[in-house]
Amino acid sequence: MTHLPKLIRTSTLLEFKQQGKKFSCLTSYDHLTAGIFDEAGIDVLLVGDSAADNALGQRNTIPITVDEMIPFGRAVSSAAKRALVVIDMPFGSYEPGVDVALLNGIRFMKESGVSAVKLEGGVRSAPQIQALVEAGIPVMGHIGFTPQSVNVLGGFKIQGRGDAAEQLMQDALAVEAAGAFAVVLELVPAAIASQVSKALKIPTIGIGAGAGTDSQILVWTDFAGLSAHAPRKFVKQYAQLRQILSTAAEQYKSDVEAGAFPTKDNEFD
Ligand code: KIV
Repeated sequence: MTHLPKLIRTSTLLEFKQQGKKFSCLTSYDHLTAGIFDEAGIDVLLVGDSAADNALGQRNTIPITVDEMIPFGRAVSSAAKRALVVIDMPFGSYEPGVDVALLNGIRFMKESGVSAVKLEGGVRSAPQIQALVEAGIPVMGHIGFTPQSVNVLGGFKIQGRGDAAEQLMQDALAVEAAGAFAVVLELVPAAIASQVSKALKIPTIGIGAGAGTDSQILVWTDFAGLSAHAPRKFVKQYAQLRQILSTAAEQYKSDVEAGAFPTKDNEFD
């Protein structure tokens, strides 16, 4: 009899924090990588709105829509047998207010097969988080650097330094009080991220936030070395897929042009 892996639920992540067990998260936007990461035991798969720049070639996460996100969600959730699958609510799908957030959150749960949504913002997004949770939709928060606000934040910058540390803590506490099951801390000084992680009961998930968070997340194209841009300081590349694929494509082109592929082995009688 095959041993079925224990399904990761939002409550499992809380148990991990209580046990002092760190857990791993990666983004995924497609069925194949989702299946690989799930089998490898990655605990949370985030269908990030980073699909905008990583899968759709958009300049940042701002243009991607709910309609564009839903097929990514379906592709990932249909591959995951164990991991908790969370989808990003894109820019414009929750900021107008609680009613808009509810309509879009319900669409994600019905149409994409995910188990939870993520949205950006601390104190400012607390009403939407609370309404979604009350409607039965688990919410992951996201504070610190919030990519959907890149134009207000003046670029890709560390958040929570100096006096801003107090606001970051208030944002974290507001997200927890509103009922979120976890919160992403992006681009935050390591010492502040540690303080926030100690102050919260819910798990913190760091990206560029040092080793003191309860979990880590990376964008999969960064972690696998597929991105075209040089890795940022907080990224560790665990593979060099860009180089591997590029070499494979060059070899294939040269084989086709030289008549070295296909061979008899690839033919049908
Ligand atoms: O969309 C995304 O990839 C994210 C991660 C950076 C956490 O929100």
